[in-house]
Amino acid sequence: MSVKTVATTPFADQKPGTSGLRKKVRVFERPNYLENFVQSIFDTLESPAGATLVMGGDGRYHNRTAVQTILKMAAANGWGRVMVGRGGILSTPAASCVIRKYRAFGGIVLSASHNPGGPNEDFGIKYNIGNGGPAPEKVTEAIFARTKAIGEYRILDAADVDIDSLGERVLGGMVVEVIDPVADYAALMETLFDFDAIRALFGSGFRMAFDAMHAVTGPYAREILECRLGAPAGTVLNGEPREDFGGGHPDPNLVHAHDLVAAMTGKDAPDFGAASDGDGDRNMILGRDFYVTPSDSLAILAANATLCPGYARGLAGLARSMPTSQAADRVAERLGLRCYETPTGWKFFGTLLDAGLATLCGEESFGTGSNHVREKDGLWAVLMWLNVLARRRQSVADIVRGHWAEYGRNVYSRHDYEGMEASAANALMDHLRQASLGGRKLGGYTVALHDDFAYTDPVDGSTSSHQGVRVVFTDGSRIVYRLSGTGTEGATLRVYIERYEPDAARHHLDPQAALADLIALARELAEIEARTGRTEPSVIT
Ligand code: G1P
Ligand code: ZN
Repeated sequence: MSVKTVATTPFADQKPGTSGLRKKVRVFERPNYLENFVQSIFDTLESPAGATLVMGGDGRYHNRTAVQTILKMAAANGWGRVMVGRGGILSTPAASCVIRKYRAFGGIVLSASHNPGGPNEDFGIKYNIGNGGPAPEKVTEAIFARTKAIGEYRILDAADVDIDSLGERVLGGMVVEVIDPVADYAALMETLFDFDAIRALFGSGFRMAFDAMHAVTGPYAREILECRLGAPAGTVLNGEPREDFGGGHPDPNLVHAHDLVAAMTGKDAPDFGAASDGDGDRNMILGRDFYVTPSDSLAILAANATLCPGYARGLAGLARSMPTSQAADRVAERLGLRCYETPTGWKFFGTLLDAGLATLCGEESFGTGSNHVREKDGLWAVLMWLNVLARRRQSVADIVRGHWAEYGRNVYSRHDYEGMEASAANALMDHLRQASLGGRKLGGYTVALHDDFAYTDPVDGSTSSHQGVRVVFTDGSRIVYRLSGTGTEGATLRVYIERYEPDAARHHLDPQAALADLIALARELAEIEARTGRTEPSVIT
């Protein structure tokens, strides 16, 4: 086996987005495309010789091919050991767990998260640092800079490695250790939650449906929910991971998780429903005929955290991304904690978690997590809900309504306009940035703040600007606009709308109705129809 040095030329489009590099599979299949990016990661890291790398992915199309290429490149670049999930599988939170547990230097996660999979769909790759979390911007920027200058990559000339049976094998001077993708993660969950209480809940006839959406969480959910917690077989729907996610869009929201939504409707529906996404870091929580917004879920989990053994001693603080509703802030205030407001993307929570400033964090985009790993964690959120349900023995709807009665309701919705022309979307954002709205009266609202969100990390002092245009009104209502950083086609405009409703008599209202005036104002301010021809969003969550 010899190391080959292959001459290459840069690709101009290898800038990592909100969560790593995501492109169509066809792009990743171009000669040298993956290799250039991986070599750029390795060149940037300055890892000591013999260091350990963790690797796995969500099992989508191209996962296995990429794993083999990266193993051979790791061997040629002086890594000592690569811990790879059996079959090339590791959910994103499990990868984070393994990196931390075995003190690996870092990890490579192969995923395009909730984007569809298959030969004509998406693939992605991201690098996580030694704390188990996504590489911070200074690292991704250095990787991007390297991709623009790369002239060669190194790869071992060797046969493919068996990644389907557990154990160690040798590849050049490197050890490939194939690990059980579920075991370490499941063990961690057992330390955080009251498995006995949850087992007793299932034993009492409580029923649940978990939709794995033919993505990576199937094996995790079967092991934890059905084997360890005694939920009946069949609790996990769509539990077989498939390379194309069964042709579906593995995004746990009301539109894409239709099997689950159907199962949770009607009086015979299970008590609790949940879904996770392609790589297992997102979650959606449902009760019978009841949807819990991710923003509310974060606030409710924070308010009930001490019911769970792993959080029984209380929380250090909370953190939410800027567009996430302010429901968590109200809980933090009551608990005497700080609630940090960060830009969109999990990477911004890492420093806060590492410094012990926050224990729970969340995003409105179906992401919730804690300091147990450095990624958001879908199944963790589901288990935390189960723990709360097992201790409170109330329905999901009663718990949420009780929370609103106590704290008031932050009525919230996100409107996405997908597949827009990039130039029109950028012009729309420029228009919003330049409009001078401060102090103006718009409809029944007065603008208290109008800015483009900028953030200074309180731990490392790093700054991020242009993180979304905020229009905040004097009554605390908000409209936020930003462009997606994860799409692979055209541009996606996200509009986030929020209003605080203290009056319990109005808590039952449908958010689209309760927010109707702000929704109309949001469209008007951004001139959405005039600029893009769109009269309605493509997805409402
Ligand atoms: C989206 C979500 C964001 C999340 C990211 C990765 O990013 O909005 O909260 O962190 O996916 O899951 P966006 O496409 O908005 O940049
Ligand atoms: Zn994901």
